Amino acid sequence: MTILTELHQDHVNLNKLLVMLRQKVDKLREGEQPNFNLIADVISYISGYADGFHHPREDRMYEFLAGRNDALDQLLSSCEKEHEELKNSSQQLKDAIDGVLHDAVIPMNEFADLLDDYVSRQTAHLNLEEGELFPKIDAVATEQDWKMLGKLLPAPEDPLFGEKQAHEYTDLYRELIIDLNAA
Ligand SMILES: [Fe+2]
Ligand SMILES: [Fe+2]
Repeated sequence: MTILTELHQDHVNLNKLLVMLRQKVDKLREGEQPNFNLIADVISYISGYADGFHHPREDRMYEFLAGRNDALDQLLSSCEKEHEELKNSSQQLKDAIDGVLHDAVIPMNEFADLLDDYVSRQTAHLNLEEGELFPKIDAVATEQDWKMLGKLLPAPEDPLFGEKQAHEYTDLYRELIIDLNAA
């Protein structure tokens, strides 16, 4: 299994959470109250795991692969830039959800817009990597590259989709199982 397969699996996992968040946006738009604690757990996971480990791991892989061709370089730097922007938007959303959980007065349509925008940005980023960048990387990287990258960038522990779930994500894990069974 190359690092690209592991990163792809992270994308599949993240996408499940984004689908869940999209359902919460729909609920908010219909005037219903979603489970805000669960939304907070999803954002905490994305900001901890995706912003904290998945993107930095990609950044180091992108640095390693830079300089091979112009089209690839352009995509690498767009994705690196998006990692920064996504990190900022996670923080912004974390602050907003903290406010909601601590009874700050935040109009629900504003919160829905923020969450909607977040889901759209995250989804667009996954699609750019999966649809354009990863196929280009796959076309240029050699066996030797994958060996080196595998040594340089070991897989981080995933506290939700990994072998051991962190206690803080028990509720979220349950919700994901329920969602999968209902699908
Ligand atoms: Fe990325
Ligand atoms: Fe990614």
